[in-house]
Amino acid sequence: IQEQALAELESVQDEAGLQAWRTAHLGRSSAVMRVFSDLGKLSKEERPQVGQNANQVKLALEGAFNLRSDELRQAALQRSLQNERLDVTLPGRAPTLGSLHPATQNLREIYRVLGDMGFQVYRARDVESDEYNFELLNIPAHHPARDMWDTFHTLTPGVLLRTHTSPGQIHAMREYAPDPVRVILPGMCYRYEQISARSEIQFNQVEMLAIDKGITFGDLKGTLNDFARRLFGDEVRTRLRPSYFPFTEPSAEMDVECFVCGGKGCPICKGSGWLEILGCGMVHPTVLKNGGYDPAVYSGFAAGMGPERIAMLRYRITDIRYFWGNDVRFLEQF
Ligand code: PHE
Repeated sequence: IQEQALAELESVQDEAGLQAWRTAHLGRSSAVMRVFSDLGKLSKEERPQVGQNANQVKLALEGAFNLRSDELRQAALQRSLQNERLDVTLPGRAPTLGSLHPATQNLREIYRVLGDMGFQVYRARDVESDEYNFELLNIPAHHPARDMWDTFHTLTPGVLLRTHTSPGQIHAMREYAPDPVRVILPGMCYRYEQISARSEIQFNQVEMLAIDKGITFGDLKGTLNDFARRLFGDEVRTRLRPSYFPFTEPSAEMDVECFVCGGKGCPICKGSGWLEILGCGMVHPTVLKNGGYDPAVYSGFAAGMGPERIAMLRYRITDIRYFWGNDVRFLEQF
């Protein structure tokens, strides 16, 4: 039995053959195993001797099986080492590195500057109610000032995409009143507009809001000038122009000198030498009241800047459509 089994084992070449051999020669109905199950049929005298012999055969077969199975595994390993040889000296392919979007880099720089100046980031929602985006900001339904913001409405009445970050003023005030507030509200805004080199249907804004007792227009102007110098450098020139917003009184807009062309005319400032970067003003008493503050005791200023405008100036980007165009040739430059 043993010799024949061992001879067969020699010719086994793979895992399947090994398993078949094991079933045939060590399985329940193999010759050796049958000797064990038939021991009872033998006489008392014969039993120990036959049992012992059978046991030896079984051990020999098991040993041979393990040996052969090791041999085959080694051979398979050798074969795969031969066939799939790697040239470890070949230089690797460099992974392409991603980087932060220029708009994000610019936003983070703005957070850093305003953070140094004591403003905390406060997040508000992109999907807003008509009430927060307009009414509580002193812009009632049918008020002609609504034309200032071309709005994306949703199919749910009274629900829209925010047209500016100013509704966040109300959220922040209602959370903090009657304590002082000094926050910035960054985020995406949406307007139903004709896309051009200077306007997009989506863009970021960073709203600033400060409320306390005794805040004046001088604080607003000083804060904005300080911000511009920290961001653009000490030499930057700014100017405030009177303007109108329903939620601030008085209102203004701030321009920074277009240092890209030095006033000689470029696509960013359209040759005027100045670029408007924000709207601002003293928080309207009605808005203070809507936020939970007594306008007789508290005052505050607010501003809403267009960070992409600022990025255009800082990075000399001539067309706002590059920001969300997802063209890697543009993005790779930052
Ligand atoms: N929300 C205004 C806009 O989108 C900007 C602004 C913010 C003006 C805060 C005044 C105060 O045009």
